Amino acid sequence: MTPPANPLAEDRRDFNRLAQRVAGIAEQHLRTLPDGVVDRVMPETLRREVLDTPLPAQGMGADQIINFLRDKILPWPLPTGHARSYGWINSPPAPIGILAETLATTMNTTSDGYDHGGIFLLGCLSRWLRELFEFPLDNSMTLLLSGGSACNLNALTVARHKAATQAGYDIRRDGLQAIDRRMLVYSSQEAHSSIQKCVETLGLGAGSIRAIPTDDQFRARADMLADMIEQDLRAGHLPCAVVALAGSTNTGAIDPLDEFANICEQRDIWLHVDGAYGAPGILDPRYHGQLRPLARADTVTFNPHKWLMTPVDCGALLVKNKSIHREAFSLVPAYLEAGGTDDAPWPYHYSFQLTYADRSLKTWATLARLGRDGLTELVVRFDKLADLLGERLEQSDCFELLAPVSLSVVCFRYRPRDYSGTEDELDELQSALSAQITRDGEAHMPTSEINGKRCLRACFMHYENTEQDIDHLLTLLETYGDAMSS
Ligand SMILES: Cc1ncc(COP(=O)(O)O)c(C=O)c1O
Repeated sequence: MTPPANPLAEDRRDFNRLAQRVAGIAEQHLRTLPDGVVDRVMPETLRREVLDTPLPAQGMGADQIINFLRDKILPWPLPTGHARSYGWINSPPAPIGILAETLATTMNTTSDGYDHGGIFLLGCLSRWLRELFEFPLDNSMTLLLSGGSACNLNALTVARHKAATQAGYDIRRDGLQAIDRRMLVYSSQEAHSSIQKCVETLGLGAGSIRAIPTDDQFRARADMLADMIEQDLRAGHLPCAVVALAGSTNTGAIDPLDEFANICEQRDIWLHVDGAYGAPGILDPRYHGQLRPLARADTVTFNPHKWLMTPVDCGALLVKNKSIHREAFSLVPAYLEAGGTDDAPWPYHYSFQLTYADRSLKTWATLARLGRDGLTELVVRFDKLADLLGERLEQSDCFELLAPVSLSVVCFRYRPRDYSGTEDELDELQSALSAQITRDGEAHMPTSEINGKRCLRACFMHYENTEQDIDHLLTLLETYGDAMSS
């Protein structure tokens, strides 16, 4: 019997032509992006038009849809694809990653399980990533989730499970209701907001976070951590996890991972490292020593969509002991199948999610394209650019660094020569400068705050970033800054 006429079947037959059109549009986008305005905010009238577009009774034509997306959506991306976008800690998408993602959606495979090609590619990628981060290979695994927040949540769920089990509670059966001790999570006061959200989501309440004070380089203090844990144990509380930072969002600071690992090992407390941004710094010989102890953590979060040029979204969680993860999550009703092998485990046994996108193709393709040497070159180059910007700022008499440069992040502010205004006015000046740069389309660099002072924050993340970007940025800031403060 002939299948009924269907627009989707029509498109399948016309796929080559349609795909070529889309490829042409994508190519033009990537080619012209560097010359355009960095932050393109969608005009009000167009927002209205898009928001109010009705669902057509009769399907639109495929070409009409492609035209709509080309004309009304594509010109308004996030700035992160542009080399002069310094605000987000997200890298631009590797072109090969974009193409591999297209193949992944063509296959329509999911990351829950089953012996499809993506699961075995994930197994390979999982090993590559553990090797890259010098993480143990035995009984360990890598999960690819939506990002740093999802990875942190997965890790802390398992940490909570382990702490409860060790204390004699069956948390999967009885939940938190049965636990009469206060469960605590320790993390730097510089931790990313996702840690608090995770702790809240896990039902522990934000008040169960012990914020570890930091030193003058924004690193959490190990001596304080040890004291806090001892005090809490004496009070009968139940430490669940310690979260160390490998590259804080604000300043790129790396907590003393070895000391944290010693403290956790002595007391058998879960050590989770949030290296969503900074973990790839291990590839830079200058940071290798500080990041080598990643291997001692129970779990490590890092985001291929941050520093490894993988198109969003992709967070990776390195898991030291996959058996505990399975114990915390696996649930196999009759309508599902259990499966997987040691080197190609089925992810749904190890996380909350069942059906979710197969991120292995785009991530594998990006890493394969760069190779270990290409990845190292990028990481080293970005760190060097940050250092160079830091040096240039220190040499200048109208800028000041507000935090030591760490990894590829630089926090600084413009301070006019012989400044005699107030701190509040200086804060306002940073915001005005940031807004002006965005308005003129020259760069994108939002503000942040260091020790109560508003700052400009630059993070190098683009595979085409060079020293010229630093010259451009400094000229820009000085020109606008001088004009605004004269
Ligand atoms: C250190 C750190 N952890 C977690 C996150 C959250 O990652 P995501 O936005 O992928 O959920 C970020 C995001 O910037 C981060 O910098």
